[in-house]
Amino acid sequence: MPAPRLPQATIARSVPRSTAVLIAGFTAEDGVAGLPDQVVNSYKKTFGSRPDDLARSIGASGKALATTVLPPAAKTTVVLVGLGDKPVDQVTDEELRAAAGAGARAASAMDLTGASIAVGFGRSEPTAVRAVTEGALLGTYSFRAVTTGEPAEPKISAITVISRSTGKQQLAAVETAEVVAAAVVANRDWVNQPANLLFPESFADDVRGYAGAAGRKISVEVLDAAGLTKGGYGGILAVGGGSAKAPRLVRLSYAPRGAAFHLALVGKGITFDSGGLDLKTQQGMYTMKSDMSGAGAVFAATRAIADLGFKIKVTTYGALAENMPSGSAWRPSDVLTTYGGKTVENINSDAEGRIVMADALARASAEDRPDLIIDVATLTGAAVVALGERTGAVFSNSEEVAGKVLAAAAAAGERFWQLPIVEESRGFLESEVADLRSGKTGGGGGAMTAAAFLREFVGDVPWAHLDVAGPAFNSNSAYSYVSSGGTGMAVRTLVALAESLAG
Ligand code: BES
Ligand code: MN
Ligand code: ZN
Repeated sequence: MPAPRLPQATIARSVPRSTAVLIAGFTAEDGVAGLPDQVVNSYKKTFGSRPDDLARSIGASGKALATTVLPPAAKTTVVLVGLGDKPVDQVTDEELRAAAGAGARAASAMDLTGASIAVGFGRSEPTAVRAVTEGALLGTYSFRAVTTGEPAEPKISAITVISRSTGKQQLAAVETAEVVAAAVVANRDWVNQPANLLFPESFADDVRGYAGAAGRKISVEVLDAAGLTKGGYGGILAVGGGSAKAPRLVRLSYAPRGAAFHLALVGKGITFDSGGLDLKTQQGMYTMKSDMSGAGAVFAATRAIADLGFKIKVTTYGALAENMPSGSAWRPSDVLTTYGGKTVENINSDAEGRIVMADALARASAEDRPDLIIDVATLTGAAVVALGERTGAVFSNSEEVAGKVLAAAAAAGERFWQLPIVEESRGFLESEVADLRSGKTGGGGGAMTAAAFLREFVGDVPWAHLDVAGPAFNSNSAYSYVSSGGTGMAVRTLVALAESLAG
């Protein structure tokens, strides 16, 4: 897979002459926000009125994310994006990110091949600059169809972020945003790749190249079926056993000198989840090429952490397998021996994520002895029932860890909500034939039961589990900076968490 393509981002105090589209804001309270004087003056000259009045006269209201294209006063087309009804200086970073994304998407829909755009909402604090840059870059993303041969050039070749101050901190904010957006887009590309083209072996090969190209060294280990057998990974082997495509375990290690904290990341990498012998319905199966997005998120975040040079040790696992029904498929009621020796009775072959995660979590906990494990998985439909399509669930064995994850998510602008692992969940895992049963049949609370199962494999290591079954994939049309298809959910939270833990 070719490297993801994103426009170049730069920062400037004024709008470059070559700008095809300028994106600014509009609030009910303040009217136009972020239009530089040069542009305001050209509107006054051409129309004899201020752009505020002009915008209101054609329906601009400030309604969040609504876009209004102003009649042209010069070569540059002006797109105003609604920022709500607060004064501009109270608009949150995430609202700015969303507005920049909506503006960039509107610009991408115009016929602008090779053009430059500019975006500014009259805000120049570093966190605002970072949010605007991320939103604009992510808003330009669309997945390149696999049949078109040569990789398409980005439609928009450059984005200039307009900011009154362009000091060191603002420059750094733009650079950070570029790294983070590239990581999010890498995960989107992996998720959007159909499962006949992205399978455990090809995914692992791709990650090898991707991690190998990081700004600072990431070492890569890939276990194939023989390696998994030798190492005793009975979970990954069972889940992958029904597929003609053999499973893999990918391990990345970023170990900068002087790091005081060791973070382990573990991602669910089911390249296609048919449900196995507990076959899914047509509706339930269609989007299941996205069932590897947890692995994509931890790989992408690791690359961003290394590119940004955070002083933190990161050990990352992606447990890659395809869950298929066949004569060699694992059966309901099978007993598997997971990494480290715990036996598990399979309650349902569609509950495959927790099984591959068990092997990877057990290895991370027992072998790497990290200070913290974070796992990311599209684990349960129950998490979607609880929180919908745009919010991820956080579970943890430590309230302090849950708080840190939620704080990182808030800083990054990703929506997560903590759910408990209620006491009775553990009881559902009692088996008469194995150490554990993989879940329960019927009843509610499936996201908690799954979390309780994962918890059994992390030992005494502080841990949080992010169930992103809802927000990892957008089955509807694009909105704000979120394209349809893979969203890159959790990448930004993981990077923010690593930043907060780094020395
Ligand atoms: N990959 C699915 C969960 C999922 C559902 C992700 C919808 C994204 C959207 C997972 O492997 C699964 O099938 N879980 C089962 C577990 C059950 C059989 C215990 C579920 O949630 O129904
Ligand atoms: Mn499943
Ligand atoms: Zn699954």
